[in-house]
Amino acid sequence: MRLAIIGARGQVGWELSRRAPMFGHEALAWDVAELDITDAAAVDRQLAASGADAVVNAAAYTAVDRAEQEPALAFAVNRDGPAHLAAACARLNIPLLHISTDYVFDGTKTAPYTEDDPAAPLGVYGQSKWEGDEAVRRLLPRHLILRVSWVFGVQGHNFVRTILRLAREREELRVVADQQGCPTYAGDIADALLELAGRVGEIDANRAWGVYHYCGEPPITWHGFASAIVEMARAREPLPVRTVTPITTADYPTPAARPANSVLDCSRLSARFGIRPCSWQEGLAAMLFALYAG
Ligand SMILES: NC(=O)c1ccc[n+]([C@@H]2O[C@H](COP(=O)([O-])OP(=O)(O)OC[C@H]3O[C@@H](n4cnc5c(N)ncnc54)[C@H](OP(=O)(O)O)[C@@H]3O)[C@@H](O)[C@H]2O)c1
Repeated sequence: MRLAIIGARGQVGWELSRRAPMFGHEALAWDVAELDITDAAAVDRQLAASGADAVVNAAAYTAVDRAEQEPALAFAVNRDGPAHLAAACARLNIPLLHISTDYVFDGTKTAPYTEDDPAAPLGVYGQSKWEGDEAVRRLLPRHLILRVSWVFGVQGHNFVRTILRLAREREELRVVADQQGCPTYAGDIADALLELAGRVGEIDANRAWGVYHYCGEPPITWHGFASAIVEMARAREPLPVRTVTPITTADYPTPAARPANSVLDCSRLSARFGIRPCSWQEGLAAMLFALYAG
């Protein structure tokens, strides 16, 4: 497959571009400098000229807190961008593999969220992503929306990098312990999407287009994740940090509210495609290996 990979310099996009050849795909790797997805005419023009067999969209406005101050930009990138891509794909009769988020949920459910649970985003980021998903669904039957959570990877900004930086500066880290979710390694998300891209014929035949959940396991709190990061990093370098203290969401107010529970149930993807949730510990080990090697 010739894949147009959008957002190719982000956490997931970078892994998609790098790993595509391992799945036998040719990658056309574009980030905002090559294609701004908020520009409908450019999206149309560039995709038509590309000869792509499918589009994988990893581009997004992902600054959850800043989105509260910049809603117009968040909606332009997260709602209108995917809408432009879906409309162009519909005209070219090619499928779109799009990434969405656990933050479409409000976190009040006590069990893992399934694809059929109602969305109820708590902030601008979640709302803009949700409206992007709705647009994709409306404009393009051949869509696959993969909802992922708590993404971390070698490239770009993420929680792991923040914890590593703070663990080198401080003796105590205070981390929220009353929000739980599933950290997901960007490389694993890329692998899942690249495999699915190779199975477009099967998805057509089985009418299996739609929304799927995919994340790491097991579920954990941000505090538990931070503790694991510190422990794994300490095996590789001496760190001044002594304690990782659990705190509550109320102790650490942020501009955007976050779901208390955003654990995703991945059984639909597993049952239909045999793609199982990945171990975030293994992903974390792979990320740290790459960071310390590089
Ligand atoms: N990060 C998470 O924890 C998380 C959790 C759940 C779901 N997700 C979803 O997973 C997907 C990938 O996330 P990620 O963490 O890999 O994101 P990321 O690292 O922030 O990368 C997104 C990329 O998109 C680019 N971009 C922004 N605006 C664009 C535009 N108008 N046109 C083209 N490209 C544009 C960004 O460029 P700039 O950096 O220059 O803006 C960046 O390179 C997104 O759909 C996100 O919503 C992420």
